[in-house]
Amino acid sequence: MFWSVYIAFIITLSITGSTATSSPGLNETKWLDSRRQADAWVSRMNLTEKAAIVTGSLTGTCIEYVAPVESVGFGGLCLQDGPAGIRLAHLASVFPAGVTISATWDRELMSQRGSAMAAEFRGKGAHVVLGPSAGPLGRSPLGGRNWESFSPDPFLTGVAMDQTIRAIQEGGVQGSAKHIIGNEQETQRKRTVVDGKQVEAISSNIDDCTLHELYLWPFADAVRAGVASVMCGYSRVNSTYSCDNKHLLVDILKGELGFDGYVVSDYMATMSGIDSASFGLDMNQPGPMLSDLTKTAWGDNLADAVHNNLFPEARLNDMVRRVLTPYLYLGQNTPDYPSVDPSSLYLTLENFGLLQPWMPTPAGRDVRGNHSALIRHMGAAGCVLLKNVNNTLPLKESDITNIGVFGDDAADVTSGLVNPDDGFSIGTLGIGGGSGGGRNSFIVSPLEAIKERAREKGGITVQYITNNTALSSGVPGALYPWPDICLVFLKTWETEGADRESLEADGDSTAVVENVASLCPRKTVVITHSGGANTMPWASNPNVVGIIAAHYPGQESGNAIVDVLFGDVNPSGRLPYITSNRTEDYGEQAQILNVTGPAATESWAWQSNFTEGLMIDYRHFDSNDIDPLYEFGYGLSYTTFELASELSVSVRSGPVSPYPGTVPTNSTLALGGNPNLWKTVVTCSSSVKNTGSLAGATVVQLYVSLPQDDVPSGTPVRVLRGFDKVFLDAGETKAVSFALTRRDLSYWDVEAQDWRIPRGEIGISLGFSSRDLRRRSTVKII
Ligand code: NOJ
Repeated sequence: MFWSVYIAFIITLSITGSTATSSPGLNETKWLDSRRQADAWVSRMNLTEKAAIVTGSLTGTCIEYVAPVESVGFGGLCLQDGPAGIRLAHLASVFPAGVTISATWDRELMSQRGSAMAAEFRGKGAHVVLGPSAGPLGRSPLGGRNWESFSPDPFLTGVAMDQTIRAIQEGGVQGSAKHIIGNEQETQRKRTVVDGKQVEAISSNIDDCTLHELYLWPFADAVRAGVASVMCGYSRVNSTYSCDNKHLLVDILKGELGFDGYVVSDYMATMSGIDSASFGLDMNQPGPMLSDLTKTAWGDNLADAVHNNLFPEARLNDMVRRVLTPYLYLGQNTPDYPSVDPSSLYLTLENFGLLQPWMPTPAGRDVRGNHSALIRHMGAAGCVLLKNVNNTLPLKESDITNIGVFGDDAADVTSGLVNPDDGFSIGTLGIGGGSGGGRNSFIVSPLEAIKERAREKGGITVQYITNNTALSSGVPGALYPWPDICLVFLKTWETEGADRESLEADGDSTAVVENVASLCPRKTVVITHSGGANTMPWASNPNVVGIIAAHYPGQESGNAIVDVLFGDVNPSGRLPYITSNRTEDYGEQAQILNVTGPAATESWAWQSNFTEGLMIDYRHFDSNDIDPLYEFGYGLSYTTFELASELSVSVRSGPVSPYPGTVPTNSTLALGGNPNLWKTVVTCSSSVKNTGSLAGATVVQLYVSLPQDDVPSGTPVRVLRGFDKVFLDAGETKAVSFALTRRDLSYWDVEAQDWRIPRGEIGISLGFSSRDLRRRSTVKII
């Protein structure tokens, strides 16, 4: 008996896993072989061919394209958006957004999503996924593209980048981590011309420490994971355009982080000509042109520049090698790599408004496989249960014969299967807009899924009002009898190219909720489809007994939420950001910079100073003692959990130096930076128990507090440095363990230009959210 329990304990220990995937994502020998083969190809190419490989071509049918070079057998590259599935495609899936998958806090699901997306990209003949995204990180909750990325927490985003990239590339497709860096707002993201005057794009002015500890952190994970490509963004970093930023691209990305793939420009983000190639850009997309369409960049210009000794051929060779190595490494030159789906041409034309009625619209290759089931599963797992008074949820089918469904997000979409620019029209919101969106081949609305459920059960009435204009001015008297339960579906439209104007859900949502809640006392449940934080002024309304943040779930929107509402899925999502009812609580950094008036025509007017440093999202709230509405890491379940044992902490044996030391000479590739940064220094363990009567999953979270007297001022009081999603049967207990690396326990020392473990007691806390910390300990390393 004793031995079987002991063996079970050991097995549990090994399966609950640690916090970090510590090994690099590339097979170094294979990568170096591919690099040698790339060099061999380079040596056989002429200047024109080499210049063509690093310059996009408008001859392709994908959003971005590199033409083949037949003399060496290079078949060309099809680069397609985006981070939630292949966008310009027919018969492809729309997956949950980045924020949704990070709300699952589930490494396995992050990876499964990446694998399924890779299968679809490959099936369509695309070689490169233009994603995942870690920029924006989410400095402001109003950022229009935050939902494409994962979380304002760099650790969580780093894990999601790592899992997604490894999975995409294991599927034979290249990832492109975007947008490096400081791409934190959409407003003035590009250079504009106002009253005839050229106004430069916003400059994200970020100090060195903040850059390393916050915004660069997940890109280090991406490089560590072996990402093939990194995309530089439209905006400026410390006054220099990202794609021209030598310090960022050469010193930091390729130098410090050891990135050996290629830097690709965002679409028309290249601001200078040949100079940008000297500054570290390796591929200019979408073709031989600059952001200013009147000028050309690269292509034959680059060949001429080399020919005239104005640009070193060695650097051109380096650029080509960087582009070819991942292509060869992933076996994309093999004959079995699918050709580009012919429908791609027409979908790309359609994207630019060029599809004419007389043109054919051939059906695409169906690459969806059985991904719907996975998408439904991920959508449910990304739901965060925020409020559940008297266990109103899950709905007890025996108690419900008359369901009321309200809100414009509940209904079927009314403006086509691609999100229109106007996100306010009636219809459920599965994904945001712009290049991170997708073309649904179908979308299941909540109302459809609820009706389906009612039909299956029989004897249930489903009444609904999905017109928010009507609901916000009082609930029309069209309901009889009054519903047993009222489900209010709200949505928040977020898109590339614009920032959010407020944190309130759209469609006069506050009035909608208040009106429905007054009709449905103590029986109103609100579900939000949103790409991030919302104010919820109605959260304390006693008639609102349930709240679920369902994020952007993708095409299975309705099915995913019905699974949670009816208890087929026990919710286990956790907020990957903090929420408050007062936008000002987020600090000045929450405001999107908007220069207006006469200053708006000043060339250098758009300066966004990241003076808050590391203090964004929960770090700002926790360090300034501000009460949130629902905190980072928070989420309820239909069961309950507790930590069942003490937190045990042990330091690696032998002396530990404050700095990581020099890069070991036996490593050719130091992916993600000095390999010593990724070594485990501290191990923590405890155990978690499901104390309820239902199987479910929880997320055990580990936060680190560096000693405030030996770190620079502005260091947050605690930061996430580990999490483990644990599935438990009722009554079951499992061990959890966390391996903290040197990087996890260090701060960026700007003088030493290195990571340093501080002297003194480092606090370690374990719990179920950033404010629900149940076990604390300290460890002294130095
Ligand atoms: C611009 C977006 O910023 C980028 O994320 C996307 O990949 C390209 N357009 C291509 O559509």
